[in-house]
Amino acid sequence: MSDSHLKFLTLEELATHRSEKWRAFPTDVIPLPVAEMDFAIAEPIKKLLHSMVEISDTGYLGSIPELNASFSHFALMRWDWQVDPTKVRLATDVGVAVVELLRVFTSPGESILISSPVYQNFYTWINETKVQFIDVPFIYNPTDDITSTWVIDWDGIEKAYHSGIKVHLLCSPHNPNGRMYSESELKRFIELARKNNVIIISDEIHSPLEYKEHPFTPILTLGSEAAECSVVVTAASKGWSIAGLKCAIIVTGSDPMHEKLNLLPPALHFRASIFGAFATAIAFSEGTPWLDTVIRQLDQNRHLISTLLSDLLPEVKYIPPQHSYLAWLDLSALNLGEDPGATILLQSKVALNSGHIYGAQWNQFVRLNFATSPEIITRAITQMAEGIRG
Ligand SMILES: Cc1ncc(COP(=O)(O)O)c(C=O)c1O
Repeated sequence: MSDSHLKFLTLEELATHRSEKWRAFPTDVIPLPVAEMDFAIAEPIKKLLHSMVEISDTGYLGSIPELNASFSHFALMRWDWQVDPTKVRLATDVGVAVVELLRVFTSPGESILISSPVYQNFYTWINETKVQFIDVPFIYNPTDDITSTWVIDWDGIEKAYHSGIKVHLLCSPHNPNGRMYSESELKRFIELARKNNVIIISDEIHSPLEYKEHPFTPILTLGSEAAECSVVVTAASKGWSIAGLKCAIIVTGSDPMHEKLNLLPPALHFRASIFGAFATAIAFSEGTPWLDTVIRQLDQNRHLISTLLSDLLPEVKYIPPQHSYLAWLDLSALNLGEDPGATILLQSKVALNSGHIYGAQWNQFVRLNFATSPEIITRAITQMAEGIRG
């Protein structure tokens, strides 16, 4: 199949998958949590993996200059971001990369800044490294525009920066509220970071999945000021749905920051998998046609959700995200109890991520993964409406 056509996997095919998304629930549940896609993966990645398995090329990862070169090329083509290939390092996955970076930049007991609602494993990584966190939540002010709905609390952010935090762990673009950061917002973070001697770790894993009207700004495109205080962690794992292959990328933009990262354990590189690293290299060099096809489908899906919700569950507040495939739904008007995600699983046999895992105060939200076929989305939202209406 050509990468200009997407193959939707059917529920029957997906039920044979061994991944968490397809093992965590009974077979009569439609699972829409866990950020992986229900599409056949890109042909170049499939071919590469077949060929490696065919010749039993299944050992440890060694040197892989192909990856540094292909990521640099992709970053230049996609975002006009000039990445020095010698300043690209590998890690097992984004989680491991962030944990090891936190170990470099913080000591147990020190504080870092996050803004909830935020990807649930930010809390896991914080616990693992025994740092404290200061949460400056987004101010939620529902409108039909995502940026004015999810407002950055600048007073809170400035106060946190002045309080002695060591790291700002930024989710850019932001998961789960679907928001992109503008260049001017990022510059304001950078200015605060430089003034207060704070490191910005920017988790940019969702960035390849940008929609045309909301271009993504990699933080390291914002000049030497950004390069002085920021480190980017990214991957091909969301964009090309290869999370199980295990590989992430750490990028720096200045010599001093690059050298600081010599404190990372050297084994970090070898703890990525050989499949993940070579699949990542080929995703960035040959995976753009598939990625663009996926983005076109996701674009339709995010609007299909608006239509379905306004027809079947008009009480739900939803704004199509500015990137990626995660719909963040405000269910507060439905009065589904303390954990609406649990209620929906019970009543409708649709599994979503419950809002409270992104921060306790967001318990009236759920996150729905729409990287699947329009049929499955329609079936899931129809079941949700039937369950809720009783
Ligand atoms: C913002 C964000 N960071 C990191 C991850 C996980 O990345 P990894 O599996 O490479 O640790 C996810 C997964 O959904 C995510 O949404």
